[in-house]
Amino acid sequence: MKTAIILDLDGVICDTAHFHFLAWQRLAAEYGYALTHADNEQLKGVSRVDSLKFILSLANKTLSAEQFETDLHRKNEWYLELVKDMGPSDTLPGVTAFFAEVAARHIPLALGSASKNANMVLSRVGLLQAFDAIVDASQVSQGKPHPETFLKAAELLGIAPENCLVFEDSAAGVQAAIAGGMKTIGIGTPNDLPGAILHLRDLGEFDFNRLPA
Ligand code: BG6
Ligand code: MG
Repeated sequence: MKTAIILDLDGVICDTAHFHFLAWQRLAAEYGYALTHADNEQLKGVSRVDSLKFILSLANKTLSAEQFETDLHRKNEWYLELVKDMGPSDTLPGVTAFFAEVAARHIPLALGSASKNANMVLSRVGLLQAFDAIVDASQVSQGKPHPETFLKAAELLGIAPENCLVFEDSAAGVQAAIAGGMKTIGIGTPNDLPGAILHLRDLGEFDFNRLPA
């Protein structure tokens, strides 16, 4: 039975999770709320709209529909400014070797990201062509923790969900993969990512001999 790999993007392939955090923190500060790293664990993997709703609830603030859209746009502009100088060297430790091993072993590979910026970030780091399938926020109606993102990726690869291994740095993403009947490897700690079968610091720590042939 062929095993496929589905990768999350932000915080797994590149350190863009940190840039999302900085941009949300800047917006939250305008609402008088100091966004913490603990808050951010709950924002990881969550869509742009749901992230702003969560921050507003933390800040105990409401916005008009128009201001809500404006602030989503401003956050994204700040994020784009932070990623604009990224290039092929801006991947997390072990990513280059991981992709080389996936290619050498002919492992079907998909992206399953909650970001609308996924294609742009992948092309900046030079990995857009490395995937057999890409699913981002523009292709799903229900974001993580709903499994739609990963189920769609599995479908595009033509691999059954139980034969997909998902790498995720977010609690929402681990939940999404489990809900889709997939195994998940957490890039992070067991405390932040309960439910993952294994926890690694980065993709470089993955032992490909653990993959079923
Ligand atoms: C996820 C990130 O991958 O994408 C979240 O973990 C982010 O932090 C979400 O909010 C949406 O990203 P974007 O680029 O569409 O605003
Ligand atoms: Mg992530």
